[in-house]
Amino acid sequence: MDKRQVLIFDTTLRDGEQVPGCKLNTPQKIEIARQLELLGVDVIEAGFPISSPGDFKSVVEISKSVSEPIICGLSRGVQKDIEVAAEALKYAKRPRIHTGIGTSASHIKYKFKSTPDQILERAVAAVKHAKSFVEDVEFYAEDAGRTDNEYLARVCEAVIKAGATVLNIPDTTGYCLPDEYGAKIKYLMDNVRGIENVIISAHCHNDLGLATANSISAVMNGARQIECTINGIGERAGNTSLEEVAMIMKQHPRLDVYNNINSKLLNPVSKLVSERMGMYVQPNKAIVGSNAFAHSSGIHQDGVIKNRETYEIIDPAEVGVNESLIVLTARSGRAALAYRSHKIGYTLTKLQLDEVYELFLEFADRKKEITDEDLHEIMKVANLSG
Ligand code: KIV
Ligand code: ZN
Repeated sequence: MDKRQVLIFDTTLRDGEQVPGCKLNTPQKIEIARQLELLGVDVIEAGFPISSPGDFKSVVEISKSVSEPIICGLSRGVQKDIEVAAEALKYAKRPRIHTGIGTSASHIKYKFKSTPDQILERAVAAVKHAKSFVEDVEFYAEDAGRTDNEYLARVCEAVIKAGATVLNIPDTTGYCLPDEYGAKIKYLMDNVRGIENVIISAHCHNDLGLATANSISAVMNGARQIECTINGIGERAGNTSLEEVAMIMKQHPRLDVYNNINSKLLNPVSKLVSERMGMYVQPNKAIVGSNAFAHSSGIHQDGVIKNRETYEIIDPAEVGVNESLIVLTARSGRAALAYRSHKIGYTLTKLQLDEVYELFLEFADRKKEITDEDLHEIMKVANLSG
């Protein structure tokens, strides 16, 4: 693999679908998986096969319907889980079993009532068992974000020896700061024997709004796979948002990495996932929110009308949005009013614009946003025709 490539591992259909109320049926999952394939994701985590017969079936059907990306099935580090995941993946052209166990002190003590040495043994046994079914085995050290680095390095080294091909270092609780998470990845890069033969994966949750920053920090320190979801959906505050990390890598050559995402499909895929899951996207969501390319203050509108680059760092067409929006509100200025009027057929002289602007402000103080219909109404009051 090219050292500059960052693999995009999409877990919309597994971690994303864990969100209450977002349950999808198998045909909907296949529809989304096909779009993810077109989008260019490298790995699709299709589900957690042992969790329900429906999830098992979805992993089987996605394995049959999608051929380009690796298809991954989640399992706990438990023999039966791994066997069921292997069975669900048997039609996949490129199957991957994703197995693991909690490694933080609190997981070891409270979840497993175990000891670090026993957990390490279980981790190794899980990877060996998965390896008896598929070549590609990803190991997750759940709650790695709060796991002691020295112990985490020991676990990583042992699972690499057991055959793991990818090491997932999840910040399961979304606790880490970007420099801390990046330092954790660097510590593993520097201290784990055999690390150069595997891929380190960042899997971040957004409890403190840091999932994207942490994932990028991981990449800056050697991670070469990011686990993420469309629209950042996922447990609690969500997962790393695919559209954000894909565009950050594209916008910042200094990172010296690339990914295979066809960014023009980001908005259509975001809409599809939002519709099928019945989970609306917050308007101010980066890249895919309805306001991501909308300008409403007079100063910004004037700049964007003169040249888009004054207030936009991304060409909307690059992420599948037709055009930037100039929204008319009481904060808008004459430039925006003239621009929007022109769009609906009124080319105003300076004098006409001054007159219409006064009327516009009266309207705009009463309404949150002035629509094209309102503009026609204003022109009628001003005795102007388009
Ligand atoms: O957040 C997490 O730790 C996970 C693992 C199961 C990979 O989703
Ligand atoms: Zn997760």
